[in-house]
Amino acid sequence: MSRKIIAYNFVLTEALEQLDDRFEVDFFEGIDPKTDLAFLKALQEAEGIVGLALPVDKALLDRAPNLKIVANNSTGYNNLSIEEMTKRGVMGTHTPGVLEDTTADAIFGILLAAARRIPELDHFVKAGNWKQHLTIEQYAVDVHHKTLGIIGMGKIGSTIAKRGHFGFDMKILYHNRTRNPETEEKYHASYCDLDTLLKESDFVCLMTPLTPETENLIGEREFKLMKKSCIFVNGSRGKTVDERALIEALRNKEIHGAALDVYQTEPVRADHPLLQFANVVTTPHIGSSTYETELKMAKLAVENLHAGLTGKRPKNLINP
Ligand code: DGY
Repeated sequence: MSRKIIAYNFVLTEALEQLDDRFEVDFFEGIDPKTDLAFLKALQEAEGIVGLALPVDKALLDRAPNLKIVANNSTGYNNLSIEEMTKRGVMGTHTPGVLEDTTADAIFGILLAAARRIPELDHFVKAGNWKQHLTIEQYAVDVHHKTLGIIGMGKIGSTIAKRGHFGFDMKILYHNRTRNPETEEKYHASYCDLDTLLKESDFVCLMTPLTPETENLIGEREFKLMKKSCIFVNGSRGKTVDERALIEALRNKEIHGAALDVYQTEPVRADHPLLQFANVVTTPHIGSSTYETELKMAKLAVENLHAGLTGKRPKNLINP
């Protein structure tokens, strides 16, 4: 009898070729995992799940008596209740080490786009409004030689620091749970407390994972501490920011603008207030979404899944 696997949300099929014909894969895309009957039926038999952002909580685990492993096709794993999984002997894995450059490119890209007003001016040209030299109101702000404050100096944060330091001569400040001596040395990054970072940075870039400690880390108080000229960039998870406070900060011109790749609810609604500001650049959670990197991530996720289902320790096991 074949062993059942669920592939959830657009796992590249090339990556699944690593699985031999003992395994049978059911694909589920764009469904509601709480109510989709075919998914709930597959869950009964599934030994493994590979996929993106499936909420694996007590309710899902109760419906998955044969589950041994959930291989996340992402580096973030805030969708997994690791404690609950561990209690039931279900492994969780993720995909660090293959997406840092790609994600740093995307996050630095939206930072540049917000500072230089690229989407707004692209629209201006395409709408046929470029009839004379730019007016002073259309001028942007510089990125080079400014201060970049990075909250969450893990692998992706460090890769952003590298771009800021070498590419744009920026001064790098950072705040993290622990000091990162390698990044301090390589990219001349200075560690500081959160409030100092918020007060002194021209760009505040949030890259921390979502945990109970970082939920709503940036709210009204934090936006008030930022410079009026600050551009706030979120490349972590939407729930690390109090969106209502961000909207208020933008309305009251407490900050200059924002660049967002992540939102409290994804996909974000088209009528969401944050999408109505010209000085907010938005992308649909594209951090790692290039073909090359998505393939590396999917291959690593499937490698982890395969290891877990064949009695080996997965390379990127999260459980303690
Ligand atoms: C990650 O890998 O965590 C990216 O944000 C995609 O979810």
